[in-house]
Amino acid sequence: MPRCNTWKVLFVASALISIAIIFTPRDPSNDCNINSILDQHLEISQLYQQNTRPFDVREDSMEALNVPYIHYLGSPPTEKRFLAIGISTVKRKKENYLLNTVHSIFNHSSKEELDQLVVVVYLANSQHTLNKETAEELNHSFQLDVKAGRLVVISSPTRAYPTLEGLKRNYNDSPDRVKFRSKQNIDYAFLVNFCANLSHYYIMLEDDITCANNFLTSIKSNIESQKAPWTTITYSTLGYIGKLYHNADLSKLARFLLLFYDEMPCDWLLDLFFKSKAQKEIIRAKPSLFQHMGTYSSFQGSMNKLKDKDFVEVHEKYGDHPPASCSTNIEAYLDNVADNVCYLGPSFFWGKNIKKDNYFTMVFQDTLNIEKVHVITGSPDHPGDMIKAGFLELGSVKVKNKDVESCKSFRKVAQFTNGVASIKTDKPQTSDCLRITISADQDEWVIIQKLGVWLKKTREVSGSVTPGLATN
Ligand SMILES: *[C@@H]1O[C@H](CO)[C@@H](O)[C@H](O)[C@H]1NC(C)=O
Ligand SMILES: *[C@@H]1O[C@H](CO)[C@@H](O)[C@H](O)[C@H]1NC(C)=O
Ligand SMILES: *[C@@H]1O[C@H](CO)[C@@H](O)[C@H](O)[C@H]1NC(C)=O
Repeated sequence: MPRCNTWKVLFVASALISIAIIFTPRDPSNDCNINSILDQHLEISQLYQQNTRPFDVREDSMEALNVPYIHYLGSPPTEKRFLAIGISTVKRKKENYLLNTVHSIFNHSSKEELDQLVVVVYLANSQHTLNKETAEELNHSFQLDVKAGRLVVISSPTRAYPTLEGLKRNYNDSPDRVKFRSKQNIDYAFLVNFCANLSHYYIMLEDDITCANNFLTSIKSNIESQKAPWTTITYSTLGYIGKLYHNADLSKLARFLLLFYDEMPCDWLLDLFFKSKAQKEIIRAKPSLFQHMGTYSSFQGSMNKLKDKDFVEVHEKYGDHPPASCSTNIEAYLDNVADNVCYLGPSFFWGKNIKKDNYFTMVFQDTLNIEKVHVITGSPDHPGDMIKAGFLELGSVKVKNKDVESCKSFRKVAQFTNGVASIKTDKPQTSDCLRITISADQDEWVIIQKLGVWLKKTREVSGSVTPGLATN
């Protein structure tokens, strides 16, 4: 079989050639030959003698990343500001809050504060036309702020992004979810990288938030009150909103997000970042200074109703907040007592051992004409602590029984569903009390997060104004 032998010879020969190729050193520096190792050591020691480091970990690895940016509006201020505010935004199908968010930042800052901040908006739509549209809207609304160097609008070309296809499906996330969260990590990394050196501190916001009045001054005094070194302070309890960083950490953070971009969502990486810098727990400043206003999240239009319970709505107080006293027969957890609901402020009621017929009563100082009531139970951190079964009543004729104030008679006006109960009526309800009654035992505790009461506005009738009542 000479033919067959020829093939065998050819096969063996080619195998030998392949082996020879594999083991032939392509680069002399890879050679495990003792002379060349000595040569390399010699070169390195010569470099040391010249007193130049071949590589400087602190500088060479921490310079700003050479990410390409598209500048839409404004240019970075020439002098370092106190605070840079980073917002990454995508156009949503339903509700867009970006303009309100930027308005809220500027509207809640004094002149002096405005001079100390710069807002950087990162347009993260993959379509250039959408980014252009948003930039034009911002240009239209904030021309003066752009001129004053308070507003910079940027983006990065899609080609600067690493692949978002075919990534690992950690946590069994759907491919769409993986793509969404991976892109978000890159968006934030590019935004943070851009903001390096613009200011002394950097804070991350989202494109659907409202701010507390003079938040910048609050942040400043909070920073001054910190006794120990820190990496992250948060001024909100939600996701990525309101996380504060030192300028010096920004290039590190950008690299960190890029290194693990396809592993997990951005808020988890942000948590791991301060832990990697040996901060045990996040520093949570109270009260919160930022609050979500969106109900639609940017991911597939899913509902995102998370609200921050620690937020003090200075201007946008919840309801008309008529003077009242609050009482309950539910055992309060720590100092989360009933009165917290009756006084304006960031706190709430939190009760345990919830039984059927437990009540929570609000007794108004004056008889009121109520147009609307809205009660929200549960919280972002404890969504399960809502009223599972219960109802809302309005009462009239105040009575006092063993020092506990209440009303003589009550009428049922609403049931709780998903932890929320509300009424809204054109025929104002004359009331002295408002009562929440639990209608079934439940294992979960109960947080009464918000209890808003809106009153019928009295109108000015031919010059006569009822004294003591607000006119509108
Ligand atoms: C920030 O500025 C310092 C000093 O000018 C410079 O050394 C450093 O490379 C800059 N960092 C970035 C990330 O641009
Ligand atoms: C902020 O102020 C501007 C002008 O002063 C006003 O047009 C806008 O409605 C305000 N926005 C909010 C959200 O208060
Ligand atoms: C912003 O608006 C001004 C004034 O209308 C205009 O001159 C400028 O070209 C606009 N810039 C962009 C980027 O749209």
